[in-house]
Amino acid sequence: MLSKLSLSSLGDFNEFVIETITDLRCIASRFTPTGVMSFAVITLFTLSQASAQNVDTPDYFRQNCMNCHTIGGGRLAGPDLKDLSTRQSDPEWLIRFMQNPRAVVESGDGYAAKRVDDTPGRAIMPTPPNMTRYRAEQLIKLIEEESAKEKSQFQGVRISNEPFTAKDVDEGRNIFVGRQKLANGGTACINCHDMHDLSALGGGHLGPDLTQVYSRLHTRKAISAWLMAPATENMQPIFKNHPLEADEIHALVAYFASTAKEPAANASVSRIAFLLSGLGLATALIFLADTLWKRRLHAVRKPLVEAGSRGKQQ
Ligand code: HEC
Ligand code: HEC
Repeated sequence: MLSKLSLSSLGDFNEFVIETITDLRCIASRFTPTGVMSFAVITLFTLSQASAQNVDTPDYFRQNCMNCHTIGGGRLAGPDLKDLSTRQSDPEWLIRFMQNPRAVVESGDGYAAKRVDDTPGRAIMPTPPNMTRYRAEQLIKLIEEESAKEKSQFQGVRISNEPFTAKDVDEGRNIFVGRQKLANGGTACINCHDMHDLSALGGGHLGPDLTQVYSRLHTRKAISAWLMAPATENMQPIFKNHPLEADEIHALVAYFASTAKEPAANASVSRIAFLLSGLGLATALIFLADTLWKRRLHAVRKPLVEAGSRGKQQ
């Protein structure tokens, strides 16, 4: 089982699935609930690991690079990667760098030092997840191909520098609560996120409260870039095929900038409200049941009593 944690091809994967099903039957036939449980957990974990390693290169770039790099769209946290190979023509250098940026910077490498000097805050790129030599080679090829295109799929959306207006803030709130539909069909934020001023039942709790997200993610540019290509586990799958438009991002960021000074929604208050409304419903149901039950008893008892008294009379 553990040996199958690293799957290299689809063939292996199919074989693994078939073996898994066989294993599952075998365990199920023994019928130990804890065994089945832990097996299910291990299977899910393995499948998620396998899918993380099997994502294709463009998806990998979108998930792990695009929140800091565009190709032809200008600098974000990291440099624009267009025409990378004309600046750094040594693929071995790039492979080493992608596998461990900090080690290359700290080795005193002149090229890396220059890149860090050019970066606001002198940030060093974090080591990307699951970065194998093969992955790095594929990424270099992808950056090369995309650089040659007039408009790369990784150009990203232009982030506006216009000052926010009250209208932007309103529009952002409408988008957040789902009153204004997202142009590309994404799910309204309120389904998973709470906000300080939402009514008693509040927003969803799958994601974090976004009242103070503007201060958390620091700058307008960083949060706009983040929304352009959300790279996290739950946001990425939803918004990959339903990206936010530049003007939607502008409005949402305006809204988040306006709420950043407010305290976050009080989760315990909304949870109490939820409990109370649950309690209200439960009480109503008990009353209803009680009334029905009494009627039912009555309906049964009455003929019995009548029959009984008739019996006495006879
Ligand atoms: C959190 C932000 C961040 C992420 C995510 C990130 N990078 Fe970077 N990257 C940087 C920064 C900042 C620099 C420049 C400073 C440095 O050298 O560390 C940089 C530099 C680079 C360079 C050298 C650029 C040049 O002009 O020579 C390459 C190549 C690169 N990144 C590729 C990638 C790839 C590929 C990914 C995704 C697997 C990625 N980066 C993910 C921030 C990031
Ligand atoms: C289906 C649920 C879901 C929807 C819909 C959703 N999000 Fe999220 N979001 C999450 C989750 C869960 C996280 C936490 C990170 C993760 O697991 O992806 C998150 C994280 C975030 C973060 C990072 C927060 C932080 O503090 O780092 C931002 C910003 C964000 N979402 C904005 C939005 C916006 C804007 C919308 C609407 C356009 C939206 N989300 C819609 C589930 C969702």
